[in-house]
Amino acid sequence: MIAMEGGKVIAKRGDIIFLRKLLSKMKDPSSKFDEVRFAKDGRDYLYNYVNENVDDVNEDRRKFLKGLLIGVSAVAVLGSVPRVIGYLNQPLTTLPKFPTLLLVDSNGDPVKASDTSLIPVNSPVIVLFTYPMVNDPNFILRMGDANNNEMEVPPAKVTVPATGEVYLFPGGVGPKRSIVAYSAICQHLGCRPPEIHFYPPKYVNPSQLNAPDPNLLTPQALAAAKAANVPAIIHCDCHGSTYDPYRGAAVLTGPTQRPLPTAELVWDSSTDYLYVTRMIGVPIFGAPNGNDLEGFPLPSMNSDYTGTTQVTPTIDTFK
Ligand code: FES
Repeated sequence: MIAMEGGKVIAKRGDIIFLRKLLSKMKDPSSKFDEVRFAKDGRDYLYNYVNENVDDVNEDRRKFLKGLLIGVSAVAVLGSVPRVIGYLNQPLTTLPKFPTLLLVDSNGDPVKASDTSLIPVNSPVIVLFTYPMVNDPNFILRMGDANNNEMEVPPAKVTVPATGEVYLFPGGVGPKRSIVAYSAICQHLGCRPPEIHFYPPKYVNPSQLNAPDPNLLTPQALAAAKAANVPAIIHCDCHGSTYDPYRGAAVLTGPTQRPLPTAELVWDSSTDYLYVTRMIGVPIFGAPNGNDLEGFPLPSMNSDYTGTTQVTPTIDTFK
């Protein structure tokens, strides 16, 4: 079951294993998950599907699935839940523009850019917020060099290998221009945290081509990190896609042909608060009709399309 401990969201190992089984079944064509029926019948369809394809839906399992369907906690805990979960919350059909949301902590207090406790330099813990929809997880990272000294992330041109298009990544924000945010949905086939996550310098030493355990880094990913001269990478353990978090999450290794979209952050130097204002780059993976703003419920916001989104440390992939 989901629990909060010291501000971190913890999931039982059994729940993680169960969810992985469920996700793998959902992708299996022989037990095809019917999104339309799910949208129509909601949790009853999901309970039946789990009963038939994964495991008995006992009381604990029912509570766990119910927790997942609430949205934010699902993303925070396991991330790998398909976007269809969002159908259970009143879906919107379209939204005219990206909302501007204030980043807050689990108490609802604004996250301060200069406070390194929630977003440490080169954090091995996955820290997420949802944007623009409640089922869209994004990494927030405070970038550092190989010795974990906070470092500026300059603007960069990012190429989309699939199309050859180029867009501008605006660079890091905050007092040291070190804080960046990217979609945490892999642009290959949509894997989410913990499968896709940030590997800090300890695991990406450019002088080596074998990273210490535990990790699932490929030699290709390490070679790409070495060639790009970056001390840390975002890597998807599903099929090995690698992204450069110092250069707008540009593609370092496939199979992905698209960079991770950037969640644009704005820092208010007078308050030290951080805001997320829009997505830049390619549409978020799986967005209906290629539009990041269609069809899924939004994070909490008022009628002016402003509100908050919670920054949540989730799984420490390296412990
Ligand atoms: S889904 Fe990430 S590499 Fe395939």
